[in-house]
Amino acid sequence: MSPPIRIAPSLLSADFARLGEEVSAVIAAGADLIHFDVMDNHYVPNLTIGPMVCQAIAPYCKRGSIEKESQVPIDVHLMVKPVDALIPMFAQAGASIISFHPEASEHVDRTIQLIHSFGVKAGLVLNPATPLNVLDHVLDKLDLVLMMSVNPGFGGQAFIESVLPKIAAVRRRIQATGRDIWLEVDGGVNAKNIARAVAAGADTLVAGSAVFSGGDYPKAIASLRVNAQLHAHAAEAFAEST
Ligand code: DX5
Ligand code: ZN
Repeated sequence: MSPPIRIAPSLLSADFARLGEEVSAVIAAGADLIHFDVMDNHYVPNLTIGPMVCQAIAPYCKRGSIEKESQVPIDVHLMVKPVDALIPMFAQAGASIISFHPEASEHVDRTIQLIHSFGVKAGLVLNPATPLNVLDHVLDKLDLVLMMSVNPGFGGQAFIESVLPKIAAVRRRIQATGRDIWLEVDGGVNAKNIARAVAAGADTLVAGSAVFSGGDYPKAIASLRVNAQLHAHAAEAFAEST
C-alpha cells in the first residue's frame, strides 16, 4: 500500500501582513504541516522570519473544534549559519520539526542531539549539489531528510529535475535503515511535477507558490494531493527513463 502523502505549504509565499489568517486558511484547506522558512542573509541571500514570528503563528496551528482539537506541526527549515544558537529559540517557539543544512553546522551530530534534547524532531537538508555522504553516519538519528529541489533562498523557482534520482537514492538508504524517516522535497513543487517527486520516493511535499499564488487554497492542495496519487504511473515512467 502507498504511504501517506503530506502537503506542507511554505509560508514564504503567504501574505506576511496576515500570517495568522493565512495559516488558518491553509490548515482549513487541508495542509498537513506548516513549512516555516528561516533565512539569514548569510547562509542564503535573503532574510525572512525568526522565532518571534514562529511563536506568533503557533496558536493558529490547530485543526478541529474546541472539543477535538489537534496540533498541526510547524516544520522549521533553518537556512542560517551558524545554526545552534537558534535551535533552543525555535523549540521554545513551538517548532515540531527543525531541519538544518550540514554546511551550516561545524558539528552535525551535535546539532542533531541539540534538536532532540528539546523533544523536537530533527531533519537534515541536502541542497541539489550536496553529496549524499553527509547522511553516512547520521541517517539513523534523523527523523526527516529534506531534499532541496531548488537552490535555497527564494520561493517561486523552477524544480530541478536532476534531483529526482537523488531522491530515489535517499529513499533506498532510508528503506535500508528500516526506520520511518520522512523524505521531504522542497522547491518548485507543483501539480505537474509532484507525481515525479512522489514516484522517486518523497512522502512530504513543500509547496509555496503552488499553494498561495492562485488564491484558492483548497483547490491548490487538493490538486497537489490528487496528482501525487498518480505516482504509481509516474514510477513506471521514471523507471523506464533511468
Ligand atoms: C526555498 C524554500 C522553499 C520555497 C518553497 O529556499 O526553502 O520552502 O520557498 O517555495 P516554492 O514552492 O515556491 O518553490
Ligand atoms: Zn523550505
